[in-house]
Amino acid sequence: MTTSRHGFATRAIHHAYDPAANQGALVPPLHLSATFAFPTMEAGAAAFTGEQPAYIYSRIANPTLALLEQRIAALEGAEAAVSFGSGMGAITATLWTLLNPGDEVLADQTLYGCTFSFLHHGLARFGVKVRHVDMTDTAALAAAIGPATRVVYFESPANPNMRLVDIAAAARAAHAAGALVVVDNTYCSPWLQRPIEHGADIVVHSATKYLGGHGDLTAGVVATSAELAQRIRLEGLKDLTGAVMSPHDAHGIMRGLKTLHLRMQRHGDNAQAIAEMLAAHPQVAAVHYPGLPTFPQHALAQRQMDGFGGMVAFELVGGIDAGRRFMNALQLVTRAVSLGDAETLAQHPASMTHSTYTPEERARHGIAEGLIRLSAGLEDLDDILADLRQALRHAAAPSRAMRELVLEMATA
Ligand SMILES: Cc1ncc(COP(=O)(O)O)c(C=O)c1O
Repeated sequence: MTTSRHGFATRAIHHAYDPAANQGALVPPLHLSATFAFPTMEAGAAAFTGEQPAYIYSRIANPTLALLEQRIAALEGAEAAVSFGSGMGAITATLWTLLNPGDEVLADQTLYGCTFSFLHHGLARFGVKVRHVDMTDTAALAAAIGPATRVVYFESPANPNMRLVDIAAAARAAHAAGALVVVDNTYCSPWLQRPIEHGADIVVHSATKYLGGHGDLTAGVVATSAELAQRIRLEGLKDLTGAVMSPHDAHGIMRGLKTLHLRMQRHGDNAQAIAEMLAAHPQVAAVHYPGLPTFPQHALAQRQMDGFGGMVAFELVGGIDAGRRFMNALQLVTRAVSLGDAETLAQHPASMTHSTYTPEERARHGIAEGLIRLSAGLEDLDDILADLRQALRHAAAPSRAMRELVLEMATA
């Protein structure tokens, strides 16, 4: 069923699938076949030239992946999508496809650690110039685009410090110079933000996160124009990376998509309450969450996003030592990287996801050594808050923690 007229949840549940064409099966069948039979040699040859569209081999296309791709495109407002075995598969395949030696990629200051690493230790080794600019400053972004800039690349919100980029302004500046805009929309999912509506050319996702939503698969997707999707599929996926998604994982993501709108609302509600609690807590030095009125880009978040999302970053009074005590005291909240799962997860970017930066690079790129990143889960809010509060008590300097405990016992 084509559901382009319908709302987001209806598209996420029904788009591009008709049970009547599949023996009445409510859930789309899983196509595990690696290869596909040609009725004749001529038909095989026509499939290879593209004269006669047909499935050939699952590294190029597969019916289960094709259904997921149509659904992602319908949710992102894109013409087409391509699926990958991981978010890094999607990012690397896209950039390998778009860039040649001598070209430049202009990237925001703050990026997920492995993306930063791929730019500097991967692309740069093959003659692609990598330059960073603080893209929260739209004028600086426009001024930084040069004649060799082919790609403007950013995350919004950025992992891990939550800074936003004005997508429409970035797209105007990039397009005036003939560059393409690639946005990593992992933190939002299309429920909260659809960068193509704001002028972006390509959206990349780690589908491992909110799209899958249950922490049980690794996957990536790219959503863009039909023409760019075909190039990324035939160059980046088929030949350059081979980072193909498993049909099992496509099935898992389609199951996740059915509840994406419900999960994102709950992630956002929990994150907002967590951010407000942290902002009022004496042990907390700074909270970075777009839903707080004190967030420097709160107005942009209201304009560009349909909610503020499930990710919160914060810094404690007492820096990294307090952070270590806090992290080790967590009991319900799980110490783990990744995000977008039902479980609330906490991690320390400087020693974990962003340890791919040197300490000097982290300082230059705005990633504080004491920053803690929290992915708000779907548990009962009171239970999450209670665990965070008790861990914050442990984060206080030991003498103060002891005083607080004695006070608590005396008033119990
Ligand atoms: C913003 C962002 N982009 C991309 C990735 C890479 O995705 P994957 O781990 O699925 O390769 C991650 C992973 O944490 C991420 O947080």
